[in-house]
Amino acid sequence: MIRFKINGSAVEHDGDGDEPLLWVIRQRVGLKGTKYGCGAGLCGACTVHVDGRAKRSCMLPVSQLDGRAVTTIEGLSANGDHPVQRAWLEIDVPQCGYCQAGQIMTAADLLERIPNPSDDDIDRLQTNICRCGTYWRIRKAIHRAADLIGQEDDR
Ligand code: FES
Ligand code: FES
Repeated sequence: MIRFKINGSAVEHDGDGDEPLLWVIRQRVGLKGTKYGCGAGLCGACTVHVDGRAKRSCMLPVSQLDGRAVTTIEGLSANGDHPVQRAWLEIDVPQCGYCQAGQIMTAADLLERIPNPSDDDIDRLQTNICRCGTYWRIRKAIHRAADLIGQEDDR
């Protein structure tokens, strides 16, 4: 039996340990914000946090999750008010929206690791693919989120 948490709720898995986390999130738990794109670890649409770090859930077998804590876009903040989410709204980043949950989860991890990233840092670490080409708005929103986090820290 593999036991872990998704957004704070206990999950028990006694099925195939090779099952990708993405399908547990979407089909078993019913959280549909985490998307399927390539299924090959390339696009990042399926990005979630595992113990606070961004991971591509299509490539993560459940067998690697025992005792770990998974956060999806639905659990990133209580009211959709994580600084990255606020910045995304302010800059009006999404176009079709399909890639955006993954983009936000990657950006939130990036800002945990580098509080004031340069454009080069963003280009290097924000590797999720957006077919709509919203990259320049994503970059702008990450800088804005860094400002918002800085303002919260100053309080
Ligand atoms: S669906 Fe996981 S990286 Fe594309
Ligand atoms: S907003 Fe459409 S794929 Fe990114």
